[in-house]
Amino acid sequence: MDEMEQMRAQALAAINAAVTLDALEAERVAALGKQGWISALLKTLGAMSPEKRQEEGPKIQGLRQEVADAIAARKGALEAAALEAQLASQTIDLTLPAPEAPQGSVHPIGQVMDELAEIFADLGFSVATGPEIEDDWHNFTALNMPESHPARAMHDTFYFPDTRLHNAAQQRSMLLRTHTSPVQIRAMLARGAPLRVIAPGRVYRSDSDATHTPMFHQIEGLVIDKGIHLGHLKWTLETFLKAFFEREDIVLRLRPSYFPFTEPSVEVDVGYSLVNGKRVIGGADGWMEVLGSGMVNRKVIAAGGLDPDEWQGFAFGTGVDRLAMLKYGMDDLRAFFDGDARWLAHYGFSAFDQPTLSGGVGAVA
Ligand code: DAH
Repeated sequence: MDEMEQMRAQALAAINAAVTLDALEAERVAALGKQGWISALLKTLGAMSPEKRQEEGPKIQGLRQEVADAIAARKGALEAAALEAQLASQTIDLTLPAPEAPQGSVHPIGQVMDELAEIFADLGFSVATGPEIEDDWHNFTALNMPESHPARAMHDTFYFPDTRLHNAAQQRSMLLRTHTSPVQIRAMLARGAPLRVIAPGRVYRSDSDATHTPMFHQIEGLVIDKGIHLGHLKWTLETFLKAFFEREDIVLRLRPSYFPFTEPSVEVDVGYSLVNGKRVIGGADGWMEVLGSGMVNRKVIAAGGLDPDEWQGFAFGTGVDRLAMLKYGMDDLRAFFDGDARWLAHYGFSAFDQPTLSGGVGAVA
């Protein structure tokens, strides 16, 4: 009996000390396995007198149960600990500081294009696009600049010399578009009338100095509808420039001019005031030219596949780079294309700063 009590204490201690499931299984086999000591005890019952068996039976069965329970409890504890350890080793510690992220900013040209799209979207314009590698029909001919037209020479065009016969049937040679105006033609042909689109994008001219780069950006506007007149043009440009420069005191002056694709044509000046010797848009101390525009020439409407007796419209075009410089106070165009990270850090905009009309389209640099 003492011996049984000793074995019991030893077995329970060993079970509770088992640190692996394998060690625990060894303890189970030693006690409850076929050759185990508790199994051996159970076998002794058969040889006992009924009285003795009555006495010893429950004790041995109780011992067997106690040891089996201890093994089950230990097994549960070891399995839970193993799961804990696995979970701990697979945890991602979200409290760690984030790795250093690359710091970027939105280029002022992208910012201004977003602002323009926002302003014109509010006026019911959608964005139209066209290819930067354009053919001379869309870039010139359809815009009332036939082969011999002197305005062609003024555009300092980059031609692709080996594409003269690119499209032999139509004799269209390829070039880098010199303005966004060809998108007027593409939009009319693709969408028909009525039409309200803006077309922002890159344009190219063989020209380079402090105020000209071989690649620059323009935005084109085109409205085609019935009964459109110069008053619609003036109101639209005034509304646009007030929203863009975020000032109410925007004064416009329309000067007669000439563009092949508009008739009549006007150049639009905006009034500026002098603040500490610097020109600031708004007021009327002096005038600055900001846009070319006019009523769309009948020939252009016809080239767009529409009947000029039925449809009229106005168009305008201007330099996005120049608008950005005027609004955000930069004075060298070339810096826009230098890719200097310090300049971008200074003049760039946060990607989280989406232009909205309600917030005032402009952003804080
Ligand atoms: N395409 C002209 C240029 O690049 C700008 C322009 C003038 C566009 C008058 C127009 C317009 O739509 O009506 O100089």
